[in-house]
Amino acid sequence: MKHSIFLSKFLPLLFLIVFPISSDASLRLPVNAKFPATQAEKLIRELNLFPKEQVNIADHDFLTSSAPKLVEKPLKFPNLIADSIQDLAHHAGYFKIDHSHAARMFYFFFESRNSKNDPVVIWLTGGPGCSSELALFYENGPFRIAKNLSLVWNEYGWDKVSNLLYVDQPTGTGFSYSTDKRDIRHNEDGVSNDLYDFLQAFFAKHPELVNNDFYITGESYAGHYIPAFAARLHRGNKAKEGIHINLKGFAIGNGLTEPGIQYAAYSDYALDMGVISKSDHDRINKVLPVCEIATKLCGTDGTISCLAAYLVCNTIFNSIVAHAGGVNYYDIRKKCEGSLCYDFSNLENFLNQKSVRDALGVGDIDFVSCSTSVYLAMLVDWMRNLESGIPTLLEDGVKLLVYAGEYDLICNWLGNWRWVHAMKWSGQKEFNSSSEVPFVVDSSEAGLLKSHGPLNFLKVHDAGHMVPMDQPKAALQMLKRWMENSLTESSEPKKLVSSI
Ligand SMILES: *[C@@H]1O[C@H](CO)[C@@H](O)[C@H](O)[C@H]1NC(C)=O
Ligand SMILES: *[C@@H]1O[C@H](CO)[C@@H](O)[C@H](O)[C@H]1NC(C)=O
Repeated sequence: MKHSIFLSKFLPLLFLIVFPISSDASLRLPVNAKFPATQAEKLIRELNLFPKEQVNIADHDFLTSSAPKLVEKPLKFPNLIADSIQDLAHHAGYFKIDHSHAARMFYFFFESRNSKNDPVVIWLTGGPGCSSELALFYENGPFRIAKNLSLVWNEYGWDKVSNLLYVDQPTGTGFSYSTDKRDIRHNEDGVSNDLYDFLQAFFAKHPELVNNDFYITGESYAGHYIPAFAARLHRGNKAKEGIHINLKGFAIGNGLTEPGIQYAAYSDYALDMGVISKSDHDRINKVLPVCEIATKLCGTDGTISCLAAYLVCNTIFNSIVAHAGGVNYYDIRKKCEGSLCYDFSNLENFLNQKSVRDALGVGDIDFVSCSTSVYLAMLVDWMRNLESGIPTLLEDGVKLLVYAGEYDLICNWLGNWRWVHAMKWSGQKEFNSSSEVPFVVDSSEAGLLKSHGPLNFLKVHDAGHMVPMDQPKAALQMLKRWMENSLTESSEPKKLVSSI
């Protein structure tokens, strides 16, 4: 324990010196860049996940080259505990990524339990490099994995109000794979183009859904993916590039979007919440000026400077965690027990069953729950500012919901609150001066909401990093009411409650 604290506190500084000298123009990490790799592996182990492979690079493609670009099959899970809802249209599929050598993106598509006319919602899990199946089975999917590896229906699955998509991305994550490692993505251009191309193929396959409203949602590192993806879609729509996609809004849950502001909020949040002392706070903050300079240099498209910023700024986070004595940094109310912050091992146990794999049509592809290689490949992207593309979307009337569970440290509400307020757009003043109102679910306050025009900020009570896992009912209400433009209604009509 002492040892690892020592490493996390001092290695980054060593690397700061080593880094610029040993890194080459191609921006691959030097093999001796142990700190980020260790960080990624630690993160994955703390979720009790042990993927067999570091990344999904297959030695052959089990789908033949004559397979269509989009292979989608009806999905029937073998161990789903049946109830009255039977004939549900569930699908799993692979999309052959256009601008790749040999990459295939895996996805789930669950038709709405309510109506085909419900909006289409896509969910993106973060990492970078973690599979969206984490959210599907632990947060907002149609079902959850029981202890005995049966599936039970989730009363608050987001498919109750939407036609719901989960994709494994970037390439190499989850069941998404390539036979060519050049397909591993390094930035948001790569990520957002792949997602755009996927949607084009998806709506070509499902023309009946193309006029439905479309929303992008996700969590954590998806605070990077989501604004980039929304901007990419909006650009494609404006340029009449392909099928017009009816983008209405994007929602970021406990995301990392503007690192310059969010890293500066870590110590303040930790102090406010009693995780660290004032003297720790002040000592840790000595790194802040350097972190802020490095992050400025990184900006929206820096390279080496962004890696330097990652290494410097993460000493802030690591120091807080080291001082906080085993706190679960996804939910500061909890401790990481043993080396585990969460136990998501049943996800791997479930998805590795032969009967499930057969149902999914994943051939001999391993399930990589979280990919260390994808994480490392995206490192140059980590400290980039993704807020900068958002104002254009707001001006064009695309809605943004930023929500955050109040007990998450790693992408805490305070840092998100600060960047949302600092964002320059035509409604900034009005947003700033609008007052907070309670977000009421079942006649009790489930959060605090601040809104103006297309912009909404919701601080969710009694939740950590994974809001739909901790507050499933409130999260479903949030999605539904946000999509219906009724988020600010101070109390929900009784009718709505019973229909959900
Ligand atoms: C597995 O667990 C679920 C939920 O707890 C239960 O309904 C089901 O009967 C169990 N199945 C078996 C085979 O034990
Ligand atoms: C927002 O309002 C506060 C006062 O409530 C003020 O101190 C701050 O400067 C305002 N920020 C912006 C960006 O207008």
